Amino acid sequence: MLDDASMYERADVHHVRDVLASFPAQCRAAAELRATPAPAVRRPRLIVVAGMGGSASSGDLLLGCAAEHLDVPVLVHRGYGLPTVAGDRDLVIASSYSGDTAESLSAAEAALSRGCPLVVVTSSGRLAALARERGVPRVTLPAGLMPRMALGYLFFPLLGILKSADLHVVKGGEVEEAFSVIDGLAAELGPARPAAANEAKRLAQAIGQFLPVVYGGPVTGVAAYRWKTDFEENAKTFAAAGVLPEMNHNEIEGWSGRLARELYLVLLRDRDEGAEIARRFGLLRELVGPGAAGIAEASTRGGSCLARLLSLTYLGQWTSYYLAILRGVDPWSVPVLDALKGRMRSDR
Ligand code: PA5
Repeated sequence: MLDDASMYERADVHHVRDVLASFPAQCRAAAELRATPAPAVRRPRLIVVAGMGGSASSGDLLLGCAAEHLDVPVLVHRGYGLPTVAGDRDLVIASSYSGDTAESLSAAEAALSRGCPLVVVTSSGRLAALARERGVPRVTLPAGLMPRMALGYLFFPLLGILKSADLHVVKGGEVEEAFSVIDGLAAELGPARPAAANEAKRLAQAIGQFLPVVYGGPVTGVAAYRWKTDFEENAKTFAAAGVLPEMNHNEIEGWSGRLARELYLVLLRDRDEGAEIARRFGLLRELVGPGAAGIAEASTRGGSCLARLLSLTYLGQWTSYYLAILRGVDPWSVPVLDALKGRMRSDR
């Protein structure tokens, strides 16, 4: 079905397919963006990335990559204010694509009042205005995208901000490697590539009308959560995500219920997941697979953690896109989310 070009014309009126196809170019452009004025902080004690939804997932990606090289903890904060631990020796990055997200603004204000070094990553809005008025270093992103589709813009500047603080999340050559891996995926996953040779189309077709449940391991857990939120926002479906080994200790019991027949299991695998985790994935297939609507696996590509997580996230973006097309829904707009934001503003 997904090889029928008319489906795209009908459901994808905002041409999300073009936005996804140009993701590698977005990442390359994003890697050139810098904060102005340059941040002055060196070797903070803690890094807090404060954001919501699509603007928080850049923090998750950073967290996933930082695990490999960084000796400073990264905390992704989704909510109002800041965690109590954040103080004047910690770097706060307020990330909001629109710049008008109340929680991210509140985090930026909390950082200023606590004297935390602050950097803002945004395209515009009240966060941009706050940065201007208070002389806060700001990375200015190109506007016009949906936040979750601006992951490249939201993520790559974080590497530069951390580098200027003498924190190196990636090693030489890893960014270039990640670009070439996603170049390859862009060529494989677009609508012109038939389902028989297109992993994202095949996954979306297999999921069909079922509810996706995405499980990752220690490396891919952050990507599993991003797959879930992409399914929710792009395809307008409930989705669940979990991480091994923790889900083996609780969520696994949920699969004995009747709902399991409606759930499609997607396992996100990584070459560095380790023998214990591989065994747990195998047992999960054995124990809960027969009760599920179906099971699929997707694997990271590339060598560095950056390439592996970016490639898996990109595959998830395309998969959720195709699920939206299959279900005949617009992958761009988020009307309920917008209505809620509007009500929060007007009811105040
Ligand atoms: O992707 C989306 O549209 C949402 O998840 C937004 O990212 C979220 O509502 C926060 O908005 P913003 O990214 O503009 O701060």
